Amino acid sequence: MPIAFGGTNQSAERAPGDLLAVPVFADRVLGPGADVVDTALGGSLRDFMAESGFAGKPDETLVVPTVGTIAAPAAVLVGLGDPQAVTTSTLRRAAAAIARRAVRARTVVTTLPLAAPDGVAMDAVAQAVAEGFVLGSYRFLEYKSDGEASKLSRVNVIGGRDAGTRAGLERGAIVAAAVSWARDMVNEPAGAKSPAQFAAAARRLLAGKGVTVTVMTEVELRAQKMGGVLGVGQGSSRPPRFVKVTYQPRGKRKPGTLAVVGKGVVFDSGGLSLKTASGMETMKTDMSGAAAVLGAMSALQALGVRHRVVAYTPMVENMPSGTAIRPGDVLRMRNGTTVEVLNTDAEGRLILADALALAASEHADAIVDLATLTGACVVALGEKVAGVMGNDAGWVDQVRGAADRAGEPVWPLPLPPEYRKLLDSEVADLKNVSSGGYGGALTAGLFLETFTDNVAWAHLDIAGPARAGADDGELTRGGTGFGVRTLLDLASVFEPPISRDRPARRSSRSK
Ligand code: BES
Ligand code: MN
Ligand code: ZN
Repeated sequence: MPIAFGGTNQSAERAPGDLLAVPVFADRVLGPGADVVDTALGGSLRDFMAESGFAGKPDETLVVPTVGTIAAPAAVLVGLGDPQAVTTSTLRRAAAAIARRAVRARTVVTTLPLAAPDGVAMDAVAQAVAEGFVLGSYRFLEYKSDGEASKLSRVNVIGGRDAGTRAGLERGAIVAAAVSWARDMVNEPAGAKSPAQFAAAARRLLAGKGVTVTVMTEVELRAQKMGGVLGVGQGSSRPPRFVKVTYQPRGKRKPGTLAVVGKGVVFDSGGLSLKTASGMETMKTDMSGAAAVLGAMSALQALGVRHRVVAYTPMVENMPSGTAIRPGDVLRMRNGTTVEVLNTDAEGRLILADALALAASEHADAIVDLATLTGACVVALGEKVAGVMGNDAGWVDQVRGAADRAGEPVWPLPLPPEYRKLLDSEVADLKNVSSGGYGGALTAGLFLETFTDNVAWAHLDIAGPARAGADDGELTRGGTGFGVRTLLDLASVFEPPISRDRPARRSSRSK
């Protein structure tokens, strides 16, 4: 059930609800509203916190009764740590922690946004809090016979009747719904999401969302010379698709087109370069980039985005079979570049090559792609941080800024020109894996760069953070929907980059 958010003028004592959620800072310093709970308990709250081992650190929660003196029958304390260090990310995590403790409560009333330090905009705070509530109560129960969904259906923010808070709560609910859709798709077993089924789910999601959707089937993929998508997809009995989504804002428009590209491998067995059994266990999540991109497209109209945004999501299943692509085969990509496929497990870059080439040829002013591309990126940055690379420093900075505001950790990696020759092929223009095998995230990025035709481009390698092994803050075990929040922030503040540090494009654009 979606959660409705609102503000209330009632006090923490009077506001009706099943649970009153109040923040506590490090060393058990009471945050806004916590004094009300202390009074209800006759001044014993500090002793009780000490006895229970609750210190007020981030991610800590403690449920206490309110012994009939205030409207809510129970209160939950949530730790925020050092009050000076509280950011929107702290508040998003705290809201998620409350949501996890509040699965049986229908209505939560909270003072949490009031704990934000001065100078942080109330709309950003409220947005983060709403995101935390929705994402922390997310559960994938589709296949659970006895799964119990969270009952939380209403959150009222005490003192949150101002326009900024209300707008932020609404934005947060919209963003979190998009993230939840992406999580659902990622968590869905591969057997139930063939490329055709994934494309159909995208169509259902996007109906009535102010976008146009076109789905290319095999005939059109051939006509469009999508050699990478067709090559990777040819080993599966479930043929590939390519979903293109166009958002054309109504009313006042701002100049510039943002292209977003997402890797949609519904299952990555490795193909004939077969993965190990354990290496395959999580590979239903190899479509996380496409899921994030499509989820984000569903929210653009509701968020009032003013730029044109076009999404390109190739969808394939990478399987070994008698029809599968072989190591040594050569593919001709959409832009005419030939690629020798020496490792069929480096398939993401092959389908992204076609998608990037299409985006670049369709007058994008800037491109950002999201892909669970390399295990090497997970080695470099771990499971929580995405790598970001690109051909335009200013554009990469814009993407980093959006990710930082959205609370999704990303860190820059280089695209060293001197590594380009590691992709030289004996027989074709390029090979799909580098000689030597070191720096795999970078050589994958360099491979992609070849297909961007010098349009400003940023690449997010989300192989680590696309899934989580355990609940953590607003993230829940399984698919995380990583990237949706970044994309929606980016689309909202997009500035078409002016190319200063990029060489002139190879082909001239006719606008
Ligand atoms: N989907 C994988 C990358 C991946 C690995 C994502 C682990 C999440 C966790 C990708 O298609 C892949 O197999 N990459 C290979 C590339 C190699 C063959 C050059 C890899 O990283 O091992
Ligand atoms: Mn692979
Ligand atoms: Zn893959």
